[in-house]
Amino acid sequence: MRNEMMHRPIVNQDVLDYMRNEQKPLTGKLKELEDQAHEAGVPVIPHETVVFLQFLLKQLKPKKVLEIGTAIGFSASLMAETLGEAAHITTIDRFPVMIEKAKKTFETLELTDQIDLLEGDAADLLKELTGPYDFIFMDSAKAKYITFLPECLRLLNPGGVLMVDDIFQAGTLFHPIEETPRKNRSIYRKLNEFLEAVTKAPDLTSSLLPLGDGVALITKDE
Ligand SMILES: C[S@@+](CC[C@H](N)C(=O)[O-])C[C@H]1O[C@@H](n2cnc3c(N)ncnc32)[C@H](O)[C@@H]1O
Repeated sequence: MRNEMMHRPIVNQDVLDYMRNEQKPLTGKLKELEDQAHEAGVPVIPHETVVFLQFLLKQLKPKKVLEIGTAIGFSASLMAETLGEAAHITTIDRFPVMIEKAKKTFETLELTDQIDLLEGDAADLLKELTGPYDFIFMDSAKAKYITFLPECLRLLNPGGVLMVDDIFQAGTLFHPIEETPRKNRSIYRKLNEFLEAVTKAPDLTSSLLPLGDGVALITKDE
C-alpha cells in the first residue's frame, strides 16, 4: 500500500519539511490515527494536505461530501470532524482489509452516524449514486481518475468543488515515456490524459497545487 511518491518531494525539501512538520498538528484521536497510518505505511494524505483540506472545508462548508478511497478512514474522519454534524460524508473503498479498519476507525471516533462507508469498486458504485455532492475528494487508484472524472462531474453540485489527490507521480509524468519503467506506463498515460482533460476543458475551472504528490481543484463553470 505504501505510496513511494509521497517520499519523493515535488517541492524543495526544506519547504516540504516546514509544510509537513511545522503547520498546526492534529490533536486527540485524529492525531493518533495519523501517526498510526504513517508508522504502518498506509498512504493517507500527508500533513500539508491535511492542513489545506481543513482550511478549504472551513471556507466551503459543504453539507454533502463524497470520498473515493477511504483506506483506514483517516481523511473521511478529518472531513467529518472539521465540518461537524451539519455535514454528511459518503466514502467508498473496495479493499476488505481497509474496509474493516475504516469501520473500526469510525466506531472509535463515534462518527458512524455522520459517515456512510460504501463497499465495492467505485467504477460500479459511482454509477448508482445520484448526489449531488457539494465536495468530492478523489483519492483512489490514479489510473482510474480519467474514467471517474465524468462521474464525479455528474455528481458535483454546480458551485461544488472536486479535489483530486496524487496527480503528479513525483513529476515523472512530464519526462519522456521511454524513461518511465514499463510497469508505470499505463498510470503515466492515464494521469497525463486526466491532467489534459482537466486543464484544457472549456467548461471547467481548475488549479493544480504542489501539496503532497500534487492536488487538483476543479469546479464546473456555471
Ligand atoms: C490513498 S488510499 C486513500 C487514503 C485516504 N483518502 C486517506 O487519506 O485517509 C486509496 C484507497 O483507495 C482504494 N481504491 C483504489 N481504487 C479503488 C476503486 N476503484 N474503488 C474503490 N476503492 C478504491 C484503495 O483500496 C485504498 O484504500
